[in-house]
Amino acid sequence: MKKLDGQTAIVTGAGSGIGKAISKKLSNEGAYVWATDVQEGGGKKTVQEIHESGGKADFLQLDVRDADQVISTMDLIYKSSGRIDILVNNAGISGNPAPVDLISNEEWKNLLDIHVNGSFYCLKASAKYMKMQNYGRIINMSSLASETSLQGFAHYAAAKYALLGLTETSAKDLASYNITVNALKPGIIRSTLTDGILAMAEERIATSTPLGKIGSPEDVAEAACFLASPDSHFLTGISIIVDGGFRLVNEMDKVMTEMMASTN
Ligand SMILES: NC(=O)c1ccc[n+]([C@@H]2O[C@H](COP(=O)([O-])OP(=O)(O)OC[C@H]3O[C@@H](n4cnc5c(N)ncnc54)[C@H](O)[C@@H]3O)[C@@H](O)[C@H]2O)c1
Repeated sequence: MKKLDGQTAIVTGAGSGIGKAISKKLSNEGAYVWATDVQEGGGKKTVQEIHESGGKADFLQLDVRDADQVISTMDLIYKSSGRIDILVNNAGISGNPAPVDLISNEEWKNLLDIHVNGSFYCLKASAKYMKMQNYGRIINMSSLASETSLQGFAHYAAAKYALLGLTETSAKDLASYNITVNALKPGIIRSTLTDGILAMAEERIATSTPLGKIGSPEDVAEAACFLASPDSHFLTGISIIVDGGFRLVNEMDKVMTEMMASTN
């Protein structure tokens, strides 16, 4: 018996990177996975890979910015599967780095539309069914950027901070229906989203990470699967940082390391 046997999971942004790894992990644990993405190619590939490893999955094209499309997608999934146990609000983009006063209004709105509005629409539409079955696991993909105020990413950080507010308040609103709402805060994880940063600074980031490597989408999928499973039953309104300890390191550590080396 696998941990998620008989359960239905929905993952947004499932066609690439972290969403793809989460979809595969949830499937490995026995869930029927509805892999959704705005892009058809990646999402279909995720489903194909799940089928090849013996799992059950389907692809649905979904732009999370479209509230009506979100409702019809959740309705279709519920009609087909008879349950919605797990929602992973993962779809996202990073936006272009720029000082706050040079970020265009269009880019600002689009970032918040995908991350915040999209997660809200999906949460609301799936909670309707989770309440009926008195069970649910909702996971919102925040980011370490919600802790570290990543310079040049005011739009991205604002969106990821907002997701923590959504997580904590909805955790309280939905607790009496046995629905938990938690968040993940990945650090720098290898994906198309971080291609540019890693091309510039992979070595520096890896050596500044106490656990000594760049995180993989599978590292995040492990934590997501824990939050998605019945094992996390007494956790709600929390966020788990998945960063190999990266957030702990600061300039003083380098000073102290040099000091210890010179005195020992
Ligand atoms: N990679 C990292 O270092 C990192 C760190 C912290 C948080 N995150 C978050 O993790 C999530 C996944 O990022 P990733 O690194 O896997 O990036 P990715 O670019 O590999 O995957 C993002 C996926 O989201 C989809 N998507 C984009 N806009 C969409 C929309 N409007 N509707 C539906 N799907 C849409 C894309 O098509 C893509 O498949 C994002 O929310 C991101 O902000 C990533």
